[in-house]
Amino acid sequence: MPRITVPATSANVGVGYDCLGLALTLYAHFDVERADTLTITGCDEAYAGPDNLFYVSMCYALRTWGIEPFPIRLHIETDVPLARGLGSSSTLVVAGIYAAALLTDRELDRSEAVALATRMEGHPDNVAPAVYGSLVCSFTPAGVSPEGCDNELEPEEPRCILYDVASNLRFVCVIPPYEVRTSEARRVVPKTLALSDAVWQMGRIAGMTRGLETGDAELIAAANDDRLHEPYRRALIPDYDAVRACALEAGASTLWISGSGSTMCAVVSETNTSFCPVSKRVAEALRSRFPGFGVHILSCNATGVKVA
Ligand code: HSE
Repeated sequence: MPRITVPATSANVGVGYDCLGLALTLYAHFDVERADTLTITGCDEAYAGPDNLFYVSMCYALRTWGIEPFPIRLHIETDVPLARGLGSSSTLVVAGIYAAALLTDRELDRSEAVALATRMEGHPDNVAPAVYGSLVCSFTPAGVSPEGCDNELEPEEPRCILYDVASNLRFVCVIPPYEVRTSEARRVVPKTLALSDAVWQMGRIAGMTRGLETGDAELIAAANDDRLHEPYRRALIPDYDAVRACALEAGASTLWISGSGSTMCAVVSETNTSFCPVSKRVAEALRSRFPGFGVHILSCNATGVKVA
């Protein structure tokens, strides 16, 4: 069966609320082919029906192209945890759209995939790096509801700006055994901000993108001081302060909330990138202090979605 592989993503990257996202070396795999009846395996039975987000996204893409949806056999193998702020829903949306193209022999370019996926997700910050890989800054012209798909609207394509991420950087992702609901995490973010906070934020977004591009961990740490969402979301993650202190004490440069949480992403700069001593030290400290948590040492994925 053909296999579609989509990377996990860390949206926001601290200061880039709803516009920055980074692809990571943690993957969801989807084996898919046409079938007589819809069969979905490799996931909880509650998600094995026609409302599975992969299948909904596939049908959405097909209908957009004027094609009547058809049943498939789908097997999912994923290391991307559900509802933890690592883009699991984007992996399903992006893979579903690529499956629609694959199973109808349609050419699909990445910008069209991002446009379709953004209409499903509501904001491009997870789907754009899932499609392109690397670090992506994206913004959406008028027309997309920030809270999800709105078929009444005809959005223009999101604009995506791609940045390479320096090879000395590692992202130690700490995944608590509890979720933070994205709707709740969005509800606590104030809808307006002071001009002084907007100015504060703009300079730091430029600093963050340059720091990730050049591998300048000191610049990343200086820039990673968000005023839009993290101050309000920390309270939704009971272990935030302890995880941050532990990661920084063990050698991480800084830490951000991945997407809307609950995962936290510690940024580590390595001089020895084959052995990664600092990342290992940070991961070991976190594992011993938080035994029920998942801890992964990840790099930036530079390729995005793959179909094989
Ligand atoms: N940018 C989004 C948020 C990512 O922070 O709410 C989660 O969908």
